[in-house]
Amino acid sequence: MQAFWDERYGQEAYAYGELPNVYFKTQLSKLPPGKLLLPAEGEGRNAVFAAQNGWEVSAFDWSPEARKKALRLADKQQVKLDYQVGDLLTLDYGLEKFDAIALIFAHFPASAKSAFHKKINGYLKSGGVLIFEAFSKKHLDYNTRNAKVGGPKNEELLFSTREIESDFKDYAIVELRETEVYLNEGLYHNGIGRVVRFTGIKP
Ligand SMILES: C[S@@+](CC[C@H](N)C(=O)[O-])C[C@H]1O[C@@H](n2cnc3c(N)ncnc32)[C@H](O)[C@@H]1O
Repeated sequence: MQAFWDERYGQEAYAYGELPNVYFKTQLSKLPPGKLLLPAEGEGRNAVFAAQNGWEVSAFDWSPEARKKALRLADKQQVKLDYQVGDLLTLDYGLEKFDAIALIFAHFPASAKSAFHKKINGYLKSGGVLIFEAFSKKHLDYNTRNAKVGGPKNEELLFSTREIESDFKDYAIVELRETEVYLNEGLYHNGIGRVVRFTGIKP
């Protein structure tokens, strides 16, 4: 699976574009800058936007090609990122370190999802904000109608609002919903899809 991502990011163009995800940008812009973690950050579009807006950004992805592209984008925009290459289950950022964490299209196997969310919860400070957008289980129908919208084809990797509610159960919910969205993100997210969106505050 890691090889799949290295191959995707090995090309010149940015797979999901150079601009931030719209939901991430909207939600992050409501917060005062602080320390931000971006797991599974890919080629750095969200990290660079955050750094340009005063955030101290840590990011990681298991693809070395992703890191190269992210640092290239950061150079182009003249910002600094702390970007590690590694697996979410083996990296360790310590407890309660971040003011905000964003999971943007961070799709993982069903067996790892909840363990990963637990780890993410540990990284966030009390009062910190989690921003989440990823394809919903109903997105499979959208992908069948238009493959250009992208996303996993395996239902186990997709999300429901119930799953998010249970993984982040004590959070104060700012927003939790499933919605249709028009994506225009680089080469691989183009068209109407269905996502789960969550913004919550850790107790
Ligand atoms: C759809 S991309 C999203 C990238 C980025 N968040 C964005 O929105 O542009 C999913 C990313 O998850 C990363 N990934 C998948 N499993 C991972 C794991 N176990 N550890 C670290 N990164 C992982 C992939 O390498 C890929 O960059």
